[in-house]
Amino acid sequence: MKIITVIGARPQFIKAAAVSNKLRKKNQEILIHTGQHYDENMSKIFFDELDIPYPDYNLSVGSGGHGKQTGEMLIKLEEIYEKEKPELVLVYGDTNSTLAGALVGSKMLIPVIHVEAGLRSFNKSMPEEQNRIITDHLSSLLFAPTEIAVKNLSNEGIVNNVYNSGDVMFDAVLHFGEVAKKKSNIIEELGIKNQEYILTTIHRAENTNDICRLQNIIDALNECGRIVILPLHPRTKKYIQDYGLTFNSNIKVISPIGYLDMLSLERSCIKIVTDSGGVQKEAFFMQKPCITMRDETEWVETVDNDWNRIVGTDKKKILNAIIGFEPKMQQKDIFGDGTSSEKICEIIESERIGR
Ligand code: UD1
Ligand code: UDP
Repeated sequence: MKIITVIGARPQFIKAAAVSNKLRKKNQEILIHTGQHYDENMSKIFFDELDIPYPDYNLSVGSGGHGKQTGEMLIKLEEIYEKEKPELVLVYGDTNSTLAGALVGSKMLIPVIHVEAGLRSFNKSMPEEQNRIITDHLSSLLFAPTEIAVKNLSNEGIVNNVYNSGDVMFDAVLHFGEVAKKKSNIIEELGIKNQEYILTTIHRAENTNDICRLQNIIDALNECGRIVILPLHPRTKKYIQDYGLTFNSNIKVISPIGYLDMLSLERSCIKIVTDSGGVQKEAFFMQKPCITMRDETEWVETVDNDWNRIVGTDKKKILNAIIGFEPKMQQKDIFGDGTSSEKICEIIESERIGR
């Protein structure tokens, strides 16, 4: 089968790292990078470190408003789909690159495969929620990472060609976690010790675009009395500068890091404080208490299992959780058995979709 895969943002590179090489064993994959993320440490580092095939096309779309960014992707993707004539289009997750890849495929009557289907925050003001809903409704083959994601789809009437495949990010953590143990020196480089720091990421638009929310988060981290390692997303860096917010000396702000270093920091930290989707799950995989600075999450299983606490951006709630939150429940198997990418490839090859 000839399959076009569209990726463009950091978490999609990591998902493709789990799937792409397996997909290529029996299929011809054309990889398109939209250029949504483009800094070396937001893009190239992942291809170099994780053995992801280099993209056949880079659309170099870059940053911009949703309309400009997505619109440019649509125009350029249509030209490539027309030229390459794929039998299937594969997209991951919920970014603008996901939406563009799916929309062009669907309009051109090329069946769309959505990996990480069925996630819902039930907060339609999130651009990601809008992207996910549309992508799921346009897709012909849907790989849901959990049983709840399957149910969410069924509640919206999407029941055909839906599979609970498990989560490809679990595959990635299992595989690259071992590689990270051998190759990452970040703990030594930062001069920190095992189990003495909190790991934090912040990038969600609802937090960065609102000065009060971002101020509360930074205040909580400044006052938490712990070393905080903060690999800072370029979006957040820009807003922190614009708002004139400052960090206390307990916070070590570093540039975005590669996945191997990230896994290494996750493995050795005390707790994870984040608004990222992927990092919430990685906290679970690494058996670290997760404190989520959002008002809701798509990954409700991690909350139900008591390994993730949703605290919004209330300073007191963040501080109380940093000090007091200790999961007490045994973890359940929620995200599959680490062979999700193999399952996805097998199903793509055995389904009649696109033939
Ligand atoms: C995007 C996704 C989000 C995902 C995140 C992963 C959408 C709507 N959002 O958010 O779902 O969780 O990626 O990290 O698709 N920038 C740089 N260099 C880069 C990339 C971005 O400086 O390489 C800066 C620019 O100022 C840009 C801003 O970050 O305007 C936001 O980038 P963008 O890709 O639009 O959204 P993210 O916040 O990264
Ligand atoms: N990540 C990384 N380096 C960083 C921050 C995050 O490699 O400096 C990884 C992280 O381990 C996870 C993924 O990026 O696998 C999550 O991406 P992000 O938080 O940007 O997006 P989201 O998952 O929220 O869409």
